[in-house]
Amino acid sequence: MSISIAIMAAGFGTRMKSQKPKVLHTISGFPMLYHIIKEAKKVSNDIHVILYHQADTVKDEMNKYFDGITYILQDHDNFPGTGGAIMGVNPQHEKLLVLNGDMPLLEANDMNMFFNQEAKVVMSSFTCSNPTGYGRVVMDKNYNVQKIVEQKDASENELHIKNVNAGVYLFDTNFLEENLPKLSNKNNQNEYYITDLVSIANEQDINVKAIEVDENTFMGVNSKYHLSIAEELMQKRIKQRFMEAGVSMRLPETIYIESDVEIEGESVIENGVSLLSGAKIINSIVKTNSVVEDSILKDSDIGPMARVRPKSVLINTHLGNFVEVKKSTLNGVKAGHLSYLGDSEIDTGTNIGCGTITCNYNGKAKYKTIIGKNVFVGSDSQLVAPVKIEDDVIIASGTTVTSDVPKGSLAIARAKQKNIDNFFYKFFSKESENSAKK
Ligand code: UD1
Ligand code: CA
Repeated sequence: MSISIAIMAAGFGTRMKSQKPKVLHTISGFPMLYHIIKEAKKVSNDIHVILYHQADTVKDEMNKYFDGITYILQDHDNFPGTGGAIMGVNPQHEKLLVLNGDMPLLEANDMNMFFNQEAKVVMSSFTCSNPTGYGRVVMDKNYNVQKIVEQKDASENELHIKNVNAGVYLFDTNFLEENLPKLSNKNNQNEYYITDLVSIANEQDINVKAIEVDENTFMGVNSKYHLSIAEELMQKRIKQRFMEAGVSMRLPETIYIESDVEIEGESVIENGVSLLSGAKIINSIVKTNSVVEDSILKDSDIGPMARVRPKSVLINTHLGNFVEVKKSTLNGVKAGHLSYLGDSEIDTGTNIGCGTITCNYNGKAKYKTIIGKNVFVGSDSQLVAPVKIEDDVIIASGTTVTSDVPKGSLAIARAKQKNIDNFFYKFFSKESENSAKK
């Protein structure tokens, strides 16, 4: 069945108390609106996003991710509210699924549930212990939905209703054409409510089908507190899916994984790890408190407390604690402790000693460090880029490498050590103490 989708995202999001439009607040690395559009695209080829508040900001952000979306500017001055929001939508198909932009946990499967329904008007509800903020679903004694009452318009009795409107609807496009003009704004907020279409349908004896949905999946994010709850739920979902696919996680509740991260094979993710957008972990071990962003790890182990920054590729590589890698390719490399490896290419069999630093930046531009096979970089070396170290080289500990090193050689650059006899005793003698006091 072909279905059009409208995503309402024009509201002011006042309860977020933020300069940023509500739907651009991120969950698991991506804006809320991104998540819902991504899922909607799986089930529809006709997606309308309704904007008003900071419309250009929202549109520009979404254009980074999607094309083929129809953006509609709500006539908010004349028709504020969720009913006003869909007045400007011109769906291609006979059915319109209406979603709220502040529902980041909804997935394509949840949308499919609506498509199987026959009724001209389908709404969704769930029962929750704390219905604050949600519209209440008023039913007759046969459990037929009568109307939806917004919290601000509800009577004392209606406020006690625990069955709330989830905010997702499927309408026959014809029904909308006929009945949207009948909405009024005579309510507490002087807004046109989409929810009033339910009582309008009832007045015409049009059956309203109500489907029961999951409270967690359909939660609406209205505040930063809600945002944190939604993120927690999404994190649980992401991690559960990886674990079911064979990934091991130690104390998963302490791990943060953004929604586009990929983990394959028998990987192990230890506690406190952050895997940020673009990370791809294949058969690797990421130890406690390490961070990986937009990089590939294959057959490698890193951490505890290692940081792999964007555009890095680690294959068959070991990074120990306090090693930072950026925009580098390491293939068969060991860097056990305390290093910065930026803008580098390092080949198999090479050992990077403790404290090694690629000096990749001179304050103006970034330069590359290229290290060949089987190189032994002694501890506390600095490699001043651009520099190339050929295969089978030894860099003596403490060397500052400033020029290329040819194959097979030793590079050593440090001042010769001098020992001065009895200097300690002279320096800390009684006389020198006394003279210091004077
Ligand atoms: C809405 C429902 C409520 C339901 C809840 C579920 C109405 C009147 N109320 O309330 O019954 O329980 O969702 O989460 O529909 N928007 C526009 N244009 C506007 C106003 C809002 O596009 O003029 C958009 C918002 O950006 C948001 C969505 O519509 O994405 C819902 O608006 P919001 O203010 O969050 O409605 P709720 O008060 O949560
Ligand atoms: Ca809401």
